[in-house]
Amino acid sequence: MFEQVEMAPADPILGLTEAFVQDPNPNKINLGVGEYKDAQGKTPVLGSVRRAAQRVVGQETTKSYKPIPGDPAYGRAVQELLFGASSEIVGGRRAATLHTPGGTGALRVAGDYLHATHGGARIWLSDPTWANHPAVFGAAGLEIKTYPYFDAAKGALDFDAMRSGLEKVPAGDVVLLHGGCHNPTGVDPSPEQFAAIGKLLAERKALPLVDFAYQGFAQGLEEDAAGVRALSQTVDELVICSSFSKNFGLYNERVGALTVVTGSPQVTQAVLSQLKLVVRRNYSNPPAHGAAIVVTILDDPQLRSAWQKELAQMRDRINGMRGLFAETLTAKGVSLLTDGNGFITRQRGMFSMSGLSRQNVDALREQYAIYIVGSGRINVAGMTEQNMEYLCDAIAKVKAAG
Ligand code: LMR
Repeated sequence: MFEQVEMAPADPILGLTEAFVQDPNPNKINLGVGEYKDAQGKTPVLGSVRRAAQRVVGQETTKSYKPIPGDPAYGRAVQELLFGASSEIVGGRRAATLHTPGGTGALRVAGDYLHATHGGARIWLSDPTWANHPAVFGAAGLEIKTYPYFDAAKGALDFDAMRSGLEKVPAGDVVLLHGGCHNPTGVDPSPEQFAAIGKLLAERKALPLVDFAYQGFAQGLEEDAAGVRALSQTVDELVICSSFSKNFGLYNERVGALTVVTGSPQVTQAVLSQLKLVVRRNYSNPPAHGAAIVVTILDDPQLRSAWQKELAQMRDRINGMRGLFAETLTAKGVSLLTDGNGFITRQRGMFSMSGLSRQNVDALREQYAIYIVGSGRINVAGMTEQNMEYLCDAIAKVKAAG
């Protein structure tokens, strides 16, 4: 059975970490996978998370199965984070939320549901997008289409091209949008542009599916929800896939959510019933621990405020590194784009589409043990004051070599 099996290629993002771990170079830097690192280059357990986890473990009375969509308290907390506690969507019971194993789990459940229940629906992805999006939706059996998004020469959003691309989407198709801190480019539509996209998709009868993995990493929890909220004002139906890997630092707990919004509570319940079938056939019901930590923090005013402070510290450190990176490159006479390095500080979240070529990326890895995704996406959160000189010197040298 197994003799003829061929070696599969390494994952374009997680495969880099595997290679990084093996690399003996003491100066090595991992700017690949989207994990936050602190000033010492470590991915910490947040203090608020540690306290909540201790409480969860101490107070646990059973390990019995969770409901297929997870705890209702978790669903409510996720919806309030997305739409605000006073939102009509929450109050009118137009949303249902399932706790999924990570944001990737939410995307896959959405993909399986769309394939099973809306046969023939295609999914439109931004060009570029997260490397795993086409893989997840392709594996679910959906045909993948792309729409223009990024002006690589300026390191900015090309909204006109995006809009023209979305004007071609036929009724019944699905359009994946990034809720904020677009992965891999770090450039986002404004709330007004989100509203315009929503209006366009509503006219075309296409469904927006939002991948929202970085709430709180651009400007703040509320500010970063503005795009999704503006979108939700202009459409009756949408799907949101949330991840709490990044903003709670809960990467290995696999805690995410799938939220579906429809025009009425009855329709929402029907969609939920189909989503439950998808989950039951896949992982049956969700793991408990990560979601219990998230609810414990969100429902306790003290823990919540401690968490929000820690989230702000992560955000501020990343933005500080953006500034230092742009400054250090400029001081060394390196311009990543023709009009300089200013784009680095305008991009948001962990990632920056650096403008480094594939050749530059390969040279950085081979000669300097600096790991960057092949597309040129760099995780700014992997930079520290200690590794900045080495990094920028290496970039200067590989750019000079062509
Ligand atoms: C990333 O894009 O690096 C993260 O979302 C981690 C992952 O699973 O790829």
